Amino acid sequence: MAVSIKSEREIELMRESCKILAKVHDELGKAIKPGISTWEIDRLGEKLIRSYDCIPNFLNYNGYPASICVSVNEEVVHGIPSKHRILKEGDIVSLDAGLIYKGYHSDAARTYGVGKVSPQVQQLMDVTKQSFFEGIKMAKAGNHLYDISNAIDDYVSKFGYGIVRDLVGHGIGTSLHEDPQIPNFRQKRKGIRLEPGMTLAVEPMINMGRCDVEWLSDDWTVVAQDGLPSAHYENTILITQGEPEILTLL
Ligand code: MF3
Ligand code: CO
Repeated sequence: MAVSIKSEREIELMRESCKILAKVHDELGKAIKPGISTWEIDRLGEKLIRSYDCIPNFLNYNGYPASICVSVNEEVVHGIPSKHRILKEGDIVSLDAGLIYKGYHSDAARTYGVGKVSPQVQQLMDVTKQSFFEGIKMAKAGNHLYDISNAIDDYVSKFGYGIVRDLVGHGIGTSLHEDPQIPNFRQKRKGIRLEPGMTLAVEPMINMGRCDVEWLSDDWTVVAQDGLPSAHYENTILITQGEPEILTLL
């Protein structure tokens, strides 16, 4: 499928959708404390999304049973919220959230430390977040898509971390997942040429150990095979002639 180019009107709607999601994430971040269950995080997230008259786009997506993906420690993404999963000091938790505003989807993820975390885990979170910013330095009209992938890989690889290969970023707009797919690791090809009006969800998923992942028997939760912690950071961005606009930041 061709990569959609959003009109000025659509870009306005994407901006609005993403701005609301940024506010939702801001509130969710404040709720992360030892003792909270991952189910409570999902309840709060869905309530916030609906309070803005938006729809949680993850809920029932291919049967996913919640509005917020909550992934703890070795869980990479798509963790299913549970009343029995209580966050404790030293854990890291990735929150992946998305919503639909007037037909336009937004998607973003953050990883938080619960209370005080080890320096090793803090570095993993910092590098994962920074890898997004390294990647999007290349995200401008005229560059190629995989310039983003290669920049993420070059940065992350210096730390010896495992870049998850089985899941990728994506275009976004009137669907949660549009073309193109955006790998977070080095590509031989160049990929499509980036054009103003493309909206992309760039989302490095980085493992402290090896890159290998597996799926749990709940059919959703993706975990690092070696059991070491994993972090995720994602924003929806807009390609322009110059610097990209990061739509899901406040
Ligand atoms: N941010 C995730 C992604 O881009 C969306 C979660 S998929 C869901 O793949 F099914 F869990 F909703
Ligand atoms: Co995404």
